[in-house]
Amino acid sequence: MCGIVGYVGEKQAQPILFGCLAKLEYRGYDSCGIALASGSLKVYKDAVRVGELAKASPQLDGMVGIGHTRWATHGEPSQINAHPHCDCAGEIAVVHNGIISNFQRLRNQLTSEGHKFVSETDTEVISHLVEKYYHGDLEEAVKVALRDVDGSYAIIVVLASESKLVVARKDSPLIIGIGDRENFVASDVPAILDYTNRVIYLEDGDIGVVTPDSVTVKSKGAEITREEHKILWSAEQAQKGGYEHFMLKEIHEQPKVIRDTLVEYTRAAEPIVDLERMRDVGAESMLILACGTSYHAALVGKYVAEELIGIPVRAEVASEFNYCGYSLSTPLAIAITQSGETADTLKAMKRVKEGGCRVVAITNVVGSTASRIANQTVYTRAGPEISVAATKSFMAQLMVLYWLAMSYSKADTRRLADMLMGIRQLPEKVKQVLDSEDMISESAEYLSRFDDVFFIGRGINFAVAMEGALKLKEISYIHGEAYAAGELKHGPFALLGSNTPVIAIVAQDNTYEAMLTNIKEVKARRSPVIALAEEGDEVIGELADSVITVPQTDALFSPVVNTVALQLLAYYTARQRGCPIDFPRNLAKSVTVE
Ligand code: F6R
Repeated sequence: MCGIVGYVGEKQAQPILFGCLAKLEYRGYDSCGIALASGSLKVYKDAVRVGELAKASPQLDGMVGIGHTRWATHGEPSQINAHPHCDCAGEIAVVHNGIISNFQRLRNQLTSEGHKFVSETDTEVISHLVEKYYHGDLEEAVKVALRDVDGSYAIIVVLASESKLVVARKDSPLIIGIGDRENFVASDVPAILDYTNRVIYLEDGDIGVVTPDSVTVKSKGAEITREEHKILWSAEQAQKGGYEHFMLKEIHEQPKVIRDTLVEYTRAAEPIVDLERMRDVGAESMLILACGTSYHAALVGKYVAEELIGIPVRAEVASEFNYCGYSLSTPLAIAITQSGETADTLKAMKRVKEGGCRVVAITNVVGSTASRIANQTVYTRAGPEISVAATKSFMAQLMVLYWLAMSYSKADTRRLADMLMGIRQLPEKVKQVLDSEDMISESAEYLSRFDDVFFIGRGINFAVAMEGALKLKEISYIHGEAYAAGELKHGPFALLGSNTPVIAIVAQDNTYEAMLTNIKEVKARRSPVIALAEEGDEVIGELADSVITVPQTDALFSPVVNTVALQLLAYYTARQRGCPIDFPRNLAKSVTVE
């Protein structure tokens, strides 16, 4: 949720920390700060974006330092609440990502012992705890302090007088980047890619000491070697590459993402997920767990798997699944999470695993927490997704789900051959949607004048309506509401009128006639209708006020082209309204709190 970085080496840390923080802003951007250690601690922080802080900051000396970009949980965005947080003496500084759940009790106790708190954050208790337990050995002090702490954390701690970083993680990601006579710490890989592609992933319970030329990691008190990984993403992949926003760049990368993900799994000798083995243990159903956009991929996956494999599939929002009481008899659960760090999804994964279920994670991030919890991990090949709004990662998730369902399809050979041909054509079809950007941006210009928009669809495209509405609301701040088209008349009709446009997703499948009827009903209530329909549909132009055409596909693949069109619609609407597209207000890329 928040981004943290640390540097220790032979260079001035300040510009490096700001550079790394700028790459991590997608994790939170309501405030930020740095602390440098060079005999004394210099802390500079404010409730501004990284670029502004870097410009305003005086030159601070120090070759060891830490930085933070925040997504507020405890206390509003303000200078006082921004990290790093220090102890009373101003000798120890801490940056933290996660939540200290028992912070109030710790704060009361530390206050009664004479510690003075200045912020409203949970994090500040860590700096005071480390101060309390510091008797000349920072690592030992951190270790003892963390015994008092409940909750999740990835932390970096510096001491004014030492050239080292002490780091620890539990339920929040943390990596160490290995350089040449310099080392880095970060909550995510893109932060450090300009400097190194050699990375160590810390595991829960690890405590590490990082100096310019050494990295020592301990688990349960004993020194341990954590494997070094080479990151294959380039720093350029995490740059805008000439596009105005990361989101637009990532939307345009989708033909390649589809190809890359398919190549990976079509060439694999083993099937992605061994459903045959699942059948041996009596798998007659499948559970898919996810949140947000990944949940919409899960819904598409449910339709596809039910149709092709013929088993019932439950797709559940992970945050709600965690409260439901029904039996966990299904032997297979698939968890979909781009970041691999979404707290609700991780909790649901742990829950089903404890119930004896085999858990397969579909994630985009190598070494993520989801990949550690899962029995098996299927990686999507979307590359780094920086924009907060998920686009290409959703597409890669769909590809994995399509391939999984096709691998175990009970459909006849002819249907399967058609689908195989269809899936291979998807990069080209998506390219055609991208080529119709101008037409879509005209509709966006119109849409940008309204405050409320309905998205309707049926069947598999109801999931697409949900994704379209989510994209619109998160980046353009227009209230977008998705409804199963047949449900509109059971209540929402009361809201329809000339000020509530309806985006109708009209697929050439068994929902087609019913969708036409729904559009007529909507028109009778004076709502303007923008239809998303296949090229060659002669009827739709007579019913809708305007039509965005998408290429023809097999109906099961229609979510692919329809979603790309809706991503562009949301993007251009937000741009028309002057919204900060890559960093929408109140959001962050990975949601590591429940
Ligand atoms: C929306 C969006 C979010 C995420 C959700 C789950 O554009 O990005 O809704 O999809 O927070 O994130 P992951 O997939 O990382 O678990």
